[in-house]
Amino acid sequence: FSGKVEFGKLQNALDKMHFAITISNLSAPDQPLVYFNPAFQTLTGATAEHLGQNCRFLQGDTENDAARAEIRTALTEKRPTLVVLKNVHQQSGELFHNLLMLEHVGVYENAPELAVGTQFGLLPEELNDMDLPDGQVRHSVVAQVADTILRTRLQRRRIASDTAVRLLQSWSIMA
Ligand code: FNR
Repeated sequence: FSGKVEFGKLQNALDKMHFAITISNLSAPDQPLVYFNPAFQTLTGATAEHLGQNCRFLQGDTENDAARAEIRTALTEKRPTLVVLKNVHQQSGELFHNLLMLEHVGVYENAPELAVGTQFGLLPEELNDMDLPDGQVRHSVVAQVADTILRTRLQRRRIASDTAVRLLQSWSIMA
């Protein structure tokens, strides 16, 4: 997308981060991934061939109806959201729980609408604390966990993802 030179700089920074970060183009059909970093590849087993696909490929045939509905609504309303999804590691085939923090990036004339997502692989003890009923995602519990156990991890990522969002916004303005 536009602002190629500037995106190169952001990409270098994002590539080095120790946590997963993804950018999707919401203006293109089926909202394809336009960027993910090596940490995302490690967490999910995704490879370069997944670029250009919608990130739902990670779900395999697991049930994520409540979380998916929340994501679709949040993207339509252009508000941030936090959900837990069941995902499948693309290399090992193992199921893991993915805490996804999504943020919409504002629309500017002639610039695509983007979303930035950062993914956490939840540790077994974090998952136990969430007391997830089978096949169900409890958003209130997710919010509670985000407030307590994951506070530090979340805040550090929030800052990084906000920075990415702000940079993308300023470059969109310049485009
Ligand atoms: C996603 N989505 C997503 N889904 C998932 O299972 N694991 C993930 O890591 C991510 N990451 C992610 C990042 C970004 C930036 C976006 C915009 C979305 C969600 C997925 O792509 C899709 O939006 C949801 O599944 C809801 O739409 P559907 O599948 O109901 O059409």
